[in-house]
Amino acid sequence: MTHRTVRLHVNGREYERTVEVRKTLADLLREDLDLTGTHLGCEHGVCGACTVLLDGAPARACLMLAVQADGARLLTVEGLADGERLHPLQEAFWTHHGLQCGYCTPGILLTAKAFLDEHPRPTRAEIREMLAGNPSVAAPAISSSSMRS
Ligand code: FES
Repeated sequence: MTHRTVRLHVNGREYERTVEVRKTLADLLREDLDLTGTHLGCEHGVCGACTVLLDGAPARACLMLAVQADGARLLTVEGLADGERLHPLQEAFWTHHGLQCGYCTPGILLTAKAFLDEHPRPTRAEIREMLAGNPSVAAPAISSSSMRS
């Protein structure tokens, strides 16, 4: 069997797609659901650009097969905002010029959301450790210029 039907709940919507069993979750999101905010960088699980929330926890969409996510609830960067109202993290990135080139930003935003859901009052050291999983150009600038102790 080379194809399988996958059912996903993504950003509040239900989807059903028949995909090749070897297709990654990142490619399903980008190619089949047109959710291109999930970016691909290294495609080896290192850079974090492809991070999505899978049942509330960060997951590297480049390392997961789409069929492994069958039945999961996913949040991608497209689902962060509430209509025209940006998520508070998006507002903070906007206000503090945290976007840099923006390529890694979706993964960082979702990693940060999951982290802050679990740690609503983190220390600077905890934030630095969290950002270390998304080694982008933007992370050092964000951690040094936009945060207060
Ligand atoms: S593209 Fe998935 S971790 Fe880099």
